Amino acid sequence: MKRLRVLVLMHPDLMPPDAIDGQTEQQINVWKTEYDVVSTLRAAGHEVRPLGVQHELKPIRDEIDSWKPDVVFNLLEQFHGETAYDQNVASYLELMRIPYTGCNPRGLMLARGKDLSKKLLYYHRIPVPAFAVFPMRRKVRRPARLNLPLIVKSLSEDASEGIAQASVVDSDEKLAERVDFIHQRIGTAAIAEQYIDGRELYVGVLGNDRLRVLPVWELDFRNLAQGNWPIATGRVKHDPDYQERHGILHGPAKDLAPEVRTRITRTAKRICRTLELDGYARIDFRLSADNVPYFLEANPNPEIAQSQEFAHAAEHDGIKYPDLLARIVALGLKRTGPASVSA
Ligand SMILES: Nc1ncnc2c1ncn2[C@@H]1O[C@H](COP(=O)(O)OP(=O)(O)O)[C@@H](O)[C@H]1O
Ligand SMILES: [Mg+2]
Repeated sequence: MKRLRVLVLMHPDLMPPDAIDGQTEQQINVWKTEYDVVSTLRAAGHEVRPLGVQHELKPIRDEIDSWKPDVVFNLLEQFHGETAYDQNVASYLELMRIPYTGCNPRGLMLARGKDLSKKLLYYHRIPVPAFAVFPMRRKVRRPARLNLPLIVKSLSEDASEGIAQASVVDSDEKLAERVDFIHQRIGTAAIAEQYIDGRELYVGVLGNDRLRVLPVWELDFRNLAQGNWPIATGRVKHDPDYQERHGILHGPAKDLAPEVRTRITRTAKRICRTLELDGYARIDFRLSADNVPYFLEANPNPEIAQSQEFAHAAEHDGIKYPDLLARIVALGLKRTGPASVSA
């Protein structure tokens, strides 16, 4: 690939230092994605400028006008502290007619609502957990079609915001309590979903039109103490000490029957098409005891630190980390106009 000027957008608090020496593992953990992307692209010979943005678009415009980057690597997950505004940043880049990595704004929007994405997939007969939405300031009544246990989450936040052991509820009283918690503490509507007991599987997908599905990855809770719900809380996902203490591992999903694996892979592609995702995405499933992959959520622009699932799955498939980033950049450069127009 030719030498490119790459503008990397990120949260100002996540601007990585130039070198990693002398930093503790906990410190590195915070900005490891940003560090990995910037340092790996530099090592590949590109000219890379990290830019922290959160409340102003002008710095993006100024960099585009004066430095004329070839591509923007979009690591921003929020604007004004709102995750729902990530699509507006992608829209802005689209209007600026500058190539950018990751998902287009429509995909970001369709995938975010944990209810909207499931409604769209249900139409295409993709298995999704039954659910109900509880808007703010509304009395909580469990619809008769929803059986306990349920898992209660924020309708729109991600990164396991508000996900804890108490999220899984086995009584109407606990349901009302947890919905109230989401309303009060997270400040969003809540969704209660049928709790799917089963293996937790992640499927990485790379591509705009032609999709490449990475090996099915599993988050393995087998060593979690008895009496705990095996769910990906914030600590399970992001706290290396906690992962080590509780023996939480991720790796290629073993012992899946070939037809189950094929079904998961095909379903992941259909989900990407339905939700208009492009660039790179991770689709999360729970595989029930009778081998039905239930869609949990789609993550456009998933975390891509070298140590995380997506990069590991790519590596397992023969795509080394620098190559993975090169492909993500190439997909950004290759995208031709709005997905809905080219489709
Ligand atoms: N319907 C469900 N059944 C079983 N576990 C679930 C369900 N929904 C979520 N979980 C657990 O909670 C975790 C976080 O839920 P998710 O919807 O992915 O929210 P986030 O956007 O915060 O990652 C999942 O990775 C899974 O472990
Ligand atoms: Mg998730």
